[in-house]
Amino acid sequence: MNTVDYLRISLIDRCNFRCQYCMPEGTELDYILRQELLAHEELLTLLREVFIPVGFRKFRLTGGEPLLRPGVVDLVRAIASFPETQDLAMTTNAFLLAGMAQDLYDAGLRRINISLDSLAPETFDKIIGNRGRSRWQQTWDGIQAAHRVGFDPLKLNIVVIPRVNDQEVLDLAALTIERQWHVRFIEFMPIGNPELFGERAWVPSEELRQRICQAFGLMESHVRGNGPADVFQIPNAKGTLGFISQMSECFCDRCNRMRLSADGWLRPCLLNETGQIDLKTALRSGVNLADLREQVRELLLLKPEINYKQRDSGTAGTYTRTMSQIGG
Ligand code: GTP
Ligand code: 5AD
Ligand code: SF4
Repeated sequence: MNTVDYLRISLIDRCNFRCQYCMPEGTELDYILRQELLAHEELLTLLREVFIPVGFRKFRLTGGEPLLRPGVVDLVRAIASFPETQDLAMTTNAFLLAGMAQDLYDAGLRRINISLDSLAPETFDKIIGNRGRSRWQQTWDGIQAAHRVGFDPLKLNIVVIPRVNDQEVLDLAALTIERQWHVRFIEFMPIGNPELFGERAWVPSEELRQRICQAFGLMESHVRGNGPADVFQIPNAKGTLGFISQMSECFCDRCNRMRLSADGWLRPCLLNETGQIDLKTALRSGVNLADLREQVRELLLLKPEINYKQRDSGTAGTYTRTMSQIGG
């Protein structure tokens, strides 16, 4: 059985972008009310008294957009200072990163994954639902700032959508030739915007690899992360190419993670809603922390059966929470 030691922590469900594949404009989302968000102290109590004791050692902060959470730098500092923390990372859209990268690094954050679905400002703005002044440059500046400050590895995430950005795959892959970055192509998953998914569907990673191989050559990389990506490299490139292929090659058998939502629900699987536990309500009702640890331990034992393959038992094709509410 896999060791499940990685917790993805959503800090907030709000976002300053409206990506078509995640929370498209016009979707009516019931944002989590402020008093329903896990407070800093509650989150730290859960980490210290529940998650670390049952074996979690790696943490990733997500959203919505995690940089919108007030006090995010203090939270980073607190989580980084647990002696048990082996890895602390963040997934962000980078729009606010230029001004925060140094503070985050100084607080102990070391890894950053950034969504960048296009190198063309017009396409980028269309994808993120922006009709005002282009947001591409400020996002790119955020990426550059993260690079300068020293985040390593620096990963760029691209959700590939047919006829939206798949024509840019070679340009995006070419970023790795001169830069030591990790560019990852993600198969579009049927969560967040099922209409767009139904209309455009997804591009298999194998097809992308063939296109990249024809243009530049491609070899399997010896670097293998502990995440969902299969890692390749253009010969002599400084960086790597990752492929996250949930739709074509289910990687649930090697799943090592659970998710905590901003309002304190623990979720064993991104794509299966079975087995969730409302930790915030339990905490606020004064539950004994030893009992809470026991509940999480029991969920860890059930986790191998709660995955994408088994999803129909818990999720009949639709999800009650969007990607922005879960944190990806
Ligand atoms: P690393 O620790 O750097 O490997 O991070 P990661 O790739 O797990 O995190 P990131 O937030 O960058 O996620 C990239 C993409 O992978 C997103 O589309 C996630 O939704 C997807 N992803 C991450 N973990 C899982 C998972 O366990 N299952 C599925 N189906 N998708 C996942
Ligand atoms: N399918 C695949 N990836 C998605 N993400 C958000 N929505 C989807 C989806 N429907 C990705 C974002 C971000 C990561 C956390 O999740 O691009 O990089
Ligand atoms: Fe893990 Fe669920 Fe993702 Fe499969 S779909 S890898 S079980 S989170």
